[in-house]
Amino acid sequence: MKKSIAIDGPAGAGKSTIAKKLAKKLNYIYVDTGAMYRAMALYFIRKGILKEEEEISRACEEAKVSIQYIDREQVVLLNGENVNHLIRTEEVGNMASISSANKEVRERLLKLQREMAKKENVVMDGRDIGTKVLPDANVKIYLTASVFVRAKRRYNELKEKGEASSLDAIELDIIERDRRDMTREISPLKQAKDAILIDSSHMTVEQVVQKIIEICKQKNGEEKKEWR
Ligand code: DC
Repeated sequence: MKKSIAIDGPAGAGKSTIAKKLAKKLNYIYVDTGAMYRAMALYFIRKGILKEEEEISRACEEAKVSIQYIDREQVVLLNGENVNHLIRTEEVGNMASISSANKEVRERLLKLQREMAKKENVVMDGRDIGTKVLPDANVKIYLTASVFVRAKRRYNELKEKGEASSLDAIELDIIERDRRDMTREISPLKQAKDAILIDSSHMTVEQVVQKIIEICKQKNGEEKKEWR
Protein backbone atom coordinates (compact mmCIF):
# COMPACT_ATOMS: atom_id res chain seq x y z
CA MET A 1 0.00 0.00 0.00
CA LYS A 2 1.49 3.34 -1.04
CA LYS A 3 1.51 6.38 1.25
CA SER A 4 -0.02 9.69 0.31
CA ILE A 5 -0.07 13.21 1.66
CA ALA A 6 -2.82 15.47 0.29
CA ILE A 7 -2.31 19.24 0.33
CA ASP A 8 -5.21 21.41 -0.74
CA GLY A 9 -5.78 25.12 -0.56
CA PRO A 10 -6.37 28.31 -2.53
CA ALA A 11 -4.08 29.81 -5.18
CA GLY A 12 -0.90 31.31 -3.82
CA ALA A 13 -0.98 29.62 -0.40
CA GLY A 14 2.46 28.11 -1.10
CA LYS A 15 1.25 24.56 -1.75
CA SER A 16 3.68 23.69 -4.52
CA THR A 17 6.78 25.12 -2.81
CA ILE A 18 5.95 23.26 0.36
CA ALA A 19 4.81 20.03 -1.29
CA LYS A 20 8.01 19.92 -3.35
CA LYS A 21 10.25 20.31 -0.29
CA LEU A 22 8.24 17.81 1.68
CA ALA A 23 8.42 15.23 -1.11
CA LYS A 24 12.17 15.67 -1.30
CA LYS A 25 12.59 15.19 2.45
CA LEU A 26 10.43 12.09 2.50
CA ASN A 27 11.71 10.77 -0.83
CA TYR A 28 8.20 10.75 -2.23
CA ILE A 29 7.05 11.84 -5.67
CA TYR A 30 5.56 15.35 -5.89
CA VAL A 31 2.39 15.44 -7.97
CA ASP A 32 1.28 18.94 -9.00
CA THR A 33 -2.32 18.46 -10.15
CA GLY A 34 -2.74 22.18 -10.94
CA ALA A 35 -0.15 21.69 -13.70
CA MET A 36 -2.40 19.05 -15.28
CA TYR A 37 -5.37 21.45 -15.31
CA ARG A 38 -3.07 24.14 -16.69
CA ALA A 39 -1.90 21.87 -19.54
CA MET A 40 -5.53 21.21 -20.50
CA ALA A 41 -6.22 24.96 -20.29
CA LEU A 42 -3.31 25.65 -22.63
CA TYR A 43 -4.88 23.34 -25.16
CA PHE A 44 -8.19 25.24 -24.97
CA ILE A 45 -6.44 28.61 -25.30
CA ARG A 46 -4.58 27.38 -28.37
CA LYS A 47 -7.89 26.23 -29.84
CA GLY A 48 -9.43 29.64 -29.16
CA ILE A 49 -11.96 28.19 -26.72
CA LEU A 50 -12.72 30.65 -23.95
CA LYS A 51 -15.41 29.23 -21.72
CA GLU A 52 -17.97 27.41 -23.86
CA GLU A 53 -18.87 24.30 -21.88
CA GLU A 54 -19.70 22.06 -24.84
CA GLU A 55 -16.56 22.97 -26.71
CA ILE A 56 -14.44 22.30 -23.64
CA SER A 57 -16.09 18.90 -23.18
CA ARG A 58 -15.51 18.01 -26.82
CA ALA A 59 -11.96 19.35 -27.07
CA CYS A 60 -10.76 17.70 -23.89
CA GLU A 61 -11.01 14.34 -25.62
CA GLU A 62 -8.26 15.47 -27.99
CA ALA A 63 -6.02 16.82 -25.25
CA LYS A 64 -3.98 13.99 -23.81
CA VAL A 65 -2.22 15.05 -20.63
CA SER A 66 0.44 12.76 -19.23
CA ILE A 67 3.18 13.03 -16.66
CA GLN A 68 6.83 12.04 -16.68
CA TYR A 69 9.51 12.42 -14.05
CA ILE A 70 12.97 13.59 -15.00
CA ASP A 71 15.36 13.66 -12.02
CA ARG A 72 12.24 13.44 -9.83
CA GLU A 73 10.92 16.70 -11.37
CA GLN A 74 7.42 16.52 -12.79
CA VAL A 75 7.19 17.14 -16.53
CA VAL A 76 3.71 17.68 -17.97
CA LEU A 77 3.16 16.51 -21.50
CA LEU A 78 0.32 17.78 -23.67
CA ASN A 79 -0.11 15.39 -26.58
CA GLY A 80 3.53 14.44 -26.13
CA GLU A 81 4.86 18.04 -25.94
CA ASN A 82 6.64 19.17 -22.78
CA VAL A 83 4.60 22.24 -21.75
CA ASN A 84 6.16 22.90 -18.33
CA HIS A 85 7.55 26.27 -19.42
CA LEU A 86 4.28 27.43 -21.01
CA ILE A 87 1.75 26.87 -18.24
CA ARG A 88 2.85 29.29 -15.52
CA THR A 89 1.26 32.44 -16.94
CA GLU A 90 -1.72 34.27 -15.41
CA GLU A 91 -3.66 33.65 -18.63
CA VAL A 92 -3.24 29.88 -18.37
CA GLY A 93 -3.95 29.93 -14.61
CA ASN A 94 -7.20 31.80 -15.12
CA MET A 95 -8.28 29.54 -17.96
CA ALA A 96 -7.44 26.51 -15.79
CA SER A 97 -9.68 27.88 -13.08
CA ILE A 98 -12.51 28.17 -15.63
CA SER A 99 -12.03 24.89 -17.50
CA SER A 100 -11.44 22.86 -14.33
CA ALA A 101 -15.14 23.32 -13.51
CA ASN A 102 -15.93 21.07 -16.49
CA LYS A 103 -17.03 17.53 -15.64
CA GLU A 104 -15.20 15.77 -18.48
CA VAL A 105 -11.95 17.62 -17.77
CA ARG A 106 -12.12 16.60 -14.10
CA GLU A 107 -12.96 12.98 -14.83
CA ARG A 108 -10.00 12.55 -17.15
CA LEU A 109 -7.51 14.08 -14.75
CA LEU A 110 -8.94 12.33 -11.70
CA LYS A 111 -8.13 9.00 -13.31
CA LEU A 112 -4.55 10.01 -14.04
CA GLN A 113 -4.06 11.34 -10.49
CA ARG A 114 -5.38 8.20 -8.82
CA GLU A 115 -3.23 5.99 -11.02
CA MET A 116 -0.14 7.91 -9.95
CA ALA A 117 -0.94 7.54 -6.26
CA LYS A 118 -1.37 3.80 -6.72
CA LYS A 119 2.12 3.43 -8.14
CA GLU A 120 4.18 5.74 -5.91
CA ASN A 121 4.31 7.32 -2.48
CA VAL A 122 3.07 10.82 -3.23
CA VAL A 123 2.74 14.32 -1.93
CA MET A 124 -0.10 15.56 -4.12
CA ASP A 125 -1.36 19.13 -4.14
CA GLY A 126 -4.46 20.72 -5.63
CA ARG A 127 -7.99 21.71 -4.68
CA ASP A 128 -9.82 18.40 -4.24
CA ILE A 129 -7.11 15.92 -3.27
CA GLY A 130 -8.32 15.28 0.28
CA THR A 131 -12.01 15.51 -0.57
CA LYS A 132 -12.16 13.60 -3.85
CA VAL A 133 -8.95 12.30 -5.43
CA LEU A 134 -7.44 10.56 -2.38
CA PRO A 135 -10.14 10.39 0.30
CA ASP A 136 -8.01 7.83 2.17
CA ALA A 137 -4.79 9.84 2.11
CA ASN A 138 -2.61 9.16 5.16
CA VAL A 139 -2.29 12.85 5.95
CA LYS A 140 -4.47 15.73 4.73
CA ILE A 141 -3.46 19.35 4.98
CA TYR A 142 -5.52 22.42 4.10
CA LEU A 143 -2.98 25.15 3.51
CA THR A 144 -4.14 28.73 3.32
CA ALA A 145 -2.99 32.33 3.87
CA SER A 146 -4.73 35.70 3.81
CA VAL A 147 -5.63 37.17 0.42
CA PHE A 148 -3.22 40.04 1.01
CA VAL A 149 -0.29 37.77 1.85
CA ARG A 150 -0.98 35.53 -1.16
CA ALA A 151 -1.21 38.56 -3.46
CA LYS A 152 2.01 40.00 -2.06
CA ARG A 153 3.85 36.70 -2.61
CA ARG A 154 2.65 36.56 -6.21
CA TYR A 155 3.59 40.21 -6.73
CA ASN A 156 7.13 39.58 -5.45
CA GLU A 157 7.46 36.50 -7.63
CA LEU A 158 6.52 38.49 -10.74
CA LYS A 159 8.81 41.35 -9.73
CA GLU A 160 11.70 38.92 -9.41
CA LYS A 161 11.01 37.70 -12.92
CA GLY A 162 11.03 41.30 -14.10
CA GLU A 163 7.32 41.25 -14.99
CA ALA A 164 5.33 44.41 -14.29
CA SER A 165 2.14 43.95 -12.27
CA SER A 166 -0.11 45.73 -9.82
CA LEU A 167 -0.74 44.44 -6.32
CA ASP A 168 -4.38 45.54 -6.47
CA ALA A 169 -4.97 43.70 -9.74
CA ILE A 170 -3.38 40.52 -8.35
CA GLU A 171 -5.51 40.77 -5.21
CA LEU A 172 -8.69 41.07 -7.28
CA ASP A 173 -7.57 38.17 -9.44
CA ILE A 174 -7.00 35.97 -6.38
CA ILE A 175 -10.41 36.85 -4.94
CA GLU A 176 -12.07 35.93 -8.23
CA ARG A 177 -10.05 32.69 -8.55
CA ASP A 178 -10.99 31.70 -4.97
CA ARG A 179 -14.64 32.39 -5.71
CA ARG A 180 -14.61 30.21 -8.85
CA ASP A 181 -12.65 27.36 -7.24
CA MET A 182 -14.79 27.34 -4.09
CA THR A 183 -18.23 27.68 -5.64
CA ARG A 184 -18.07 25.38 -8.67
CA GLU A 185 -20.48 22.47 -8.66
CA ILE A 186 -18.03 19.58 -9.06
CA SER A 187 -15.29 19.07 -6.47
CA PRO A 188 -15.13 22.63 -5.20
CA LEU A 189 -12.19 23.69 -3.06
CA LYS A 190 -12.98 23.02 0.57
CA GLN A 191 -11.28 21.67 3.63
CA ALA A 192 -11.82 17.92 4.03
CA LYS A 193 -13.36 17.00 7.39
CA ASP A 194 -10.20 15.18 8.43
CA ALA A 195 -7.75 17.75 7.04
CA ILE A 196 -5.57 19.85 9.31
CA LEU A 197 -5.69 23.58 8.68
CA ILE A 198 -2.42 25.47 8.39
CA ASP A 199 -2.49 29.23 7.90
CA SER A 200 0.90 30.14 6.47
CA SER A 201 0.33 33.93 6.52
CA HIS A 202 2.96 34.42 9.20
CA MET A 203 5.07 31.31 8.71
CA THR A 204 8.21 30.65 6.70
CA VAL A 205 8.34 27.80 4.18
CA GLU A 206 10.62 25.83 6.50
CA GLN A 207 8.21 26.26 9.43
CA VAL A 208 5.31 24.92 7.38
CA VAL A 209 7.33 21.94 6.12
CA GLN A 210 8.43 21.15 9.67
CA LYS A 211 4.87 21.40 10.94
CA ILE A 212 3.62 18.95 8.31
CA ILE A 213 6.42 16.53 9.15
CA GLU A 214 5.37 16.74 12.80
CA ILE A 215 1.78 16.00 11.79
CA CYS A 216 2.95 13.00 9.75
CA LYS A 217 4.93 11.70 12.73
CA GLN A 218 1.95 12.08 15.03
CA LYS A 219 -0.39 10.34 12.61
CA ASN A 220 1.99 7.48 12.19
CA GLY A 221 3.32 7.14 15.70
CA GLU A 222 4.12 3.51 15.19
CA GLU A 223 6.05 4.14 11.98
CA LYS A 224 8.04 7.17 13.03
CA LYS A 225 11.19 6.15 11.20
CA GLU A 226 9.51 6.43 7.86
CA TRP A 227 8.65 10.12 8.34
CA ARG A 228 12.08 11.17 9.56
O1 DC B 1 -2.76 25.32 -8.33
P1 DC B 1 -2.84 26.02 -9.67
O2 DC B 1 -2.93 27.52 -9.55
O3 DC B 1 -1.73 25.58 -10.59
O4 DC B 1 -4.22 25.50 -10.32
C1 DC B 1 -4.77 26.11 -11.46
C2 DC B 1 -6.27 25.88 -11.48
O5 DC B 1 -6.55 24.50 -11.67
C3 DC B 1 -7.00 26.29 -10.21
O6 DC B 1 -7.46 27.62 -10.25
C4 DC B 1 -8.14 25.32 -10.10
C5 DC B 1 -7.69 24.13 -10.90
N1 DC B 1 -7.39 22.95 -10.09
C6 DC B 1 -8.44 22.16 -9.71
O7 DC B 1 -9.58 22.48 -10.00
N2 DC B 1 -8.22 21.02 -9.01
C7 DC B 1 -6.98 20.67 -8.66
N3 DC B 1 -6.78 19.52 -7.99
C8 DC B 1 -5.88 21.48 -9.03
C9 DC B 1 -6.12 22.65 -9.72
